[in-house]
Amino acid sequence: MGKNVVVIGAQWGDEGKGKIIDLLTEKTSNVVRFQGGHNAGHTIVVKDEKTILHIIPSGVLHDNIECLIGNGVVLSITALLKEIATLKKNNIDILSRLAISPSCILILPYHIAIDKAHEEMLGKNAIGTTCNGIGPAYEDKVARRGLRVGDLLHSEYFANKLEEVANYHNFILNNYYKAKTIDYKKVLDEIMDQAKIIKNNITDVTNKIYQKIENNENILFEGAQGALLDIDQGTYPYVTSSNTISGGVNTGSGVGIANIDYVLSIVKTYTTRVGAGPFPTELVYDVASDKGDSIGKELGIKGCEFGATTGRQRRCGWLDIVALNHSFRINSVTGICLTKLDVLDNLNTIKICVAYEINGKITKTMPYSIQDFNKIKPIYIDIEGWKTSTIGINSFDLLPTKAKKYIEKISDLTNLPIDIISTGPERNQTIIINHPFN
Ligand code: GDP
Ligand code: IMO
Ligand code: MG
Repeated sequence: MGKNVVVIGAQWGDEGKGKIIDLLTEKTSNVVRFQGGHNAGHTIVVKDEKTILHIIPSGVLHDNIECLIGNGVVLSITALLKEIATLKKNNIDILSRLAISPSCILILPYHIAIDKAHEEMLGKNAIGTTCNGIGPAYEDKVARRGLRVGDLLHSEYFANKLEEVANYHNFILNNYYKAKTIDYKKVLDEIMDQAKIIKNNITDVTNKIYQKIENNENILFEGAQGALLDIDQGTYPYVTSSNTISGGVNTGSGVGIANIDYVLSIVKTYTTRVGAGPFPTELVYDVASDKGDSIGKELGIKGCEFGATTGRQRRCGWLDIVALNHSFRINSVTGICLTKLDVLDNLNTIKICVAYEINGKITKTMPYSIQDFNKIKPIYIDIEGWKTSTIGINSFDLLPTKAKKYIEKISDLTNLPIDIISTGPERNQTIIINHPFN
């Protein structure tokens, strides 16, 4: 029997999903993206060479891997072609092994214009989106006015529908946001040209997945963002616009819930967040003014915490077990992959948040309202640092005793096994205790 493994981020994204997915593909022949869009930035480092993927599944660097883009993804063909061209420069051909669901909603220039205009209008209350049109594209999907990848195969229908939807968005751009409108004819010409390149890649991805299940193949599902950015279960409204939790694999690819064998939750040994929104364990530090918390600064510098998509500074803070336990429940997590252990190497003391105080009451449950989030006072336990390098260690036995203690503490507090530990950005800088496909 083949095994179906879902990889998700347990925090606010950037946990190191890309590295781990690339690594796990040694035991599969395919990777499926099922939500989000090119707001994602998944980094893979092979022999010092860095590749950042935004929309193409993170198995692409292995030339035998088939890359599938499921119906839950919102797709910018412009971003996709840009990524294909970059890979081609590095002699990686993807078109021959790329399948795109006809049901993916297209991200079009008016989505990007609205995303930007809306963020500008929100001013200091902005979400801090990637301005890639993700939210407005999902809005079109639920409003049942979205254009889908499969519509590109019906040029007359596409042209008519595009005109209608562009008129709608242009009205809003012009009258509500007082922003520049989009020339629908230009958009049409451009996307029809682009469509010629990927036309043959449009395939029924759901059906492909079931064929693989019938053939007893392993399938790897690649989540983007993180559970705390989930539109339903995250820190609303400071979230992305898709279901980033493992359940999103069902709606976003068509695989049934009972077909999932293992959910791997990627957890950074500390916490980061890009963009605005609550972050109870944040160690506030600002790069531009070089002011703020010295440990927040160290985590950011040592962890290279700058956005893979927008280049923005990532906010850093301590590990938050309350948020993680919420995340593990809603994702049906089987095992944890702990990343960036090496980033903590120099710390004297490492803090773990184990409870919140809200309005004088102690709780281990994450609140659901933004008003309560903003009142959280984290309660910490202290763990002694190991003060020695763990970079590249690839066996649990070789870790310093105090690092083992830190890892075991996380396993105790979450009641989950730590199946993988990452000790550097490269493939081989990894400790695999239990491989999800075994
Ligand atoms: P993703 O969005 O979850 O795929 O994560 P990103 O690629 O946005 O950010 C993770 C960053 O950490 C990337 O720069 C990775 O190369 C890097 N990284 C991943 N695992 C490790 C690790 O164990 N140690 C260190 N030092 N860096 C890591
Ligand atoms: P990966 O897959 C971290 C954040 C944005 C913003 C919020 C909404 O690399 O982990 P959006 O453009 O999605 O409407 O922005 O979500 N965000 C991410 N943060 N990692 C990501 O992806 C993210 N994708 C979106 O910064 O706060
Ligand atoms: Mg990222």
